[in-house]
Amino acid sequence: MSHRPKLVVANWKMHGSATANAALLSALTAGLATGCRSEVAVCVPFPYLGQAREFLSKSAIAWGAQDVSEHAPGAYTGDVSVEMLEDFGASVVLVGHSERRVFHAESNERAAAKALRALHGALRVVFCVGESLAERQAGVTDRVVRGQLRALLSGLMPQMMGQLVVAYEPVWAIGAGNAAKPEDVQEVHAVLREQLQRVDAKMGSACPLLYGGSVKKETAARLFELPDVDGGLIGGASLVAPEFLAIVAAADAACGDQVKAHGYSQ
Ligand code: 13P
Repeated sequence: MSHRPKLVVANWKMHGSATANAALLSALTAGLATGCRSEVAVCVPFPYLGQAREFLSKSAIAWGAQDVSEHAPGAYTGDVSVEMLEDFGASVVLVGHSERRVFHAESNERAAAKALRALHGALRVVFCVGESLAERQAGVTDRVVRGQLRALLSGLMPQMMGQLVVAYEPVWAIGAGNAAKPEDVQEVHAVLREQLQRVDAKMGSACPLLYGGSVKKETAARLFELPDVDGGLIGGASLVAPEFLAIVAAADAACGDQVKAHGYSQ
């Protein structure tokens, strides 16, 4: 069991409606009202940032977006800048999710540029890496995830690591129903941990490493007790309040006694 606090991040992806979100966010704030030992964040589609702010700004639950532009404000139709997210009060952003890499042709370099812009600001970045099924079958998982993370680390100043979270999401496990095997998750997380520690031993040891891909309440506890797994990035199960709350409870149970109750506020 690691001594780092656990972090559970919801990725709603392109789901939600004003009515459904209100019910979900109310259930989350009620469910976590008495406090939890883990940090919790919710990443929503851009049009619902206002609703997230309305429901969560007085809670310990952080909120933010699922993507951000790598550019300074300017003529980039349809894009949303780091400055806008910060102006709005968001504190966290996902970068380099495989659905951005695949459906929007985001390269390692572009994902890294987005993350670096956000890290130059005050946002906490959840930087996603992960191999495809073909890459796993070809035995190149470590090389792929290292390359994805290297693109970011080559431009990173060590002091930015305090805002960085890395999420390992094997593409083949996302939405698949079954998470990756715990031993395979730990193996990849150990690779990522070592890569982060080479930039800065102390900061690299403290950097949260999340696992994502079909995390459910039944499997969360086993994953969260792995030495280099500091929480989860949750897709489908984050849309169902009792499921998500049960996953947060599993994270709480996996927090060592030495971790004090805390949260990060807006
Ligand atoms: P699922 O939890 O639905 O598999 O999604 C994982 C994911 O992609 C979170 O970012």
